[in-house]
Amino acid sequence: MTKEEKYQALVPKVAALLTGEPDPVARMANMAALLHQEMGFWWTGFYRVQDEELVLGPFQGPVACTRIAFGRGVCGTAWKERRTVVVPDVEQFPGHIACSSESRSEIVVPLWQHNEVTGVLDIDSRELGTFDAVDQKYLEKIAALVYGPQREIWFAAGCFWGAQKFFKMIEGVEFTEVGFCNGWVQNPTYEQVYTDETGHAECVHVRYDPERVSLQKLTRLFFKIIDPLSLNKQGGDEGTRYRTGVYFVAEDQVPGIRAALDRTAEALGQPLAVELLPLRNFYRAEEYHQDYLEKNPGGYCHLSPAIFKIAEEG
Ligand code: SME
Repeated sequence: MTKEEKYQALVPKVAALLTGEPDPVARMANMAALLHQEMGFWWTGFYRVQDEELVLGPFQGPVACTRIAFGRGVCGTAWKERRTVVVPDVEQFPGHIACSSESRSEIVVPLWQHNEVTGVLDIDSRELGTFDAVDQKYLEKIAALVYGPQREIWFAAGCFWGAQKFFKMIEGVEFTEVGFCNGWVQNPTYEQVYTDETGHAECVHVRYDPERVSLQKLTRLFFKIIDPLSLNKQGGDEGTRYRTGVYFVAEDQVPGIRAALDRTAEALGQPLAVELLPLRNFYRAEEYHQDYLEKNPGGYCHLSPAIFKIAEEG
């Protein structure tokens, strides 16, 4: 079996192994174990960015250095330069950190979350020149699995009780919670937000699996539950806390959402009252607001019961 064939068999195994486990450290632990075992590496592990340095995470192999500064060693360089670093001979790499004198070559792949490097996958070999472009290609694919395929987005759609119920019913949505976003008061209570003086919008935090539901579809469905022309008023609910908007932390989501907003504006022949902004802050609302309509089946909702059929049907 060539190295490439080994990796090809390994990638789906890693994905299958991680299914159902959301915790990134648990995911890293099993990824390190499987990679180490199947590829026969000498040292396989993770460092995580914590308080401006890299801190040792789950690994397989001999004991290792626990902390690495930004820009230091191969790991700190991969973090600083935001790229995979392949080192055929560690003695030729200025500043290489020798956790063990036995290590001769190394590859370090950054881990990405929302355009930030949040850690690295580091693999060491006792032979020179072990790693090449094939390792880089597949280890980058594997590193991309650390945080799972889940993506997230925040929708403000007027009163959040009905909006949460709606988004929760959509196939591919894996998690929802309601809260207050983009205001200027920290940790606001519902009562504070209700005064309309904290600047927050009621919104639904949605985590979704992009392989099962696209952001485009979520945005299309979002338009089914709002009047996009109505400023600060949805149904009977009025105030800036009931404004409509889509809020993101990942820039790569913007073009798709903007295209959907532009299409709707064009179809309606008017500018929309819907915001599209980076998420500046989000505070989870009190527990009694979470899944409110499940807890209170007859509870107030500005959405018509028929609308929920749309979420179910997609
Ligand atoms: N050699 C690494 C340090 C980590 S160990 O290889 C496990 C570096 O230079 O960053």
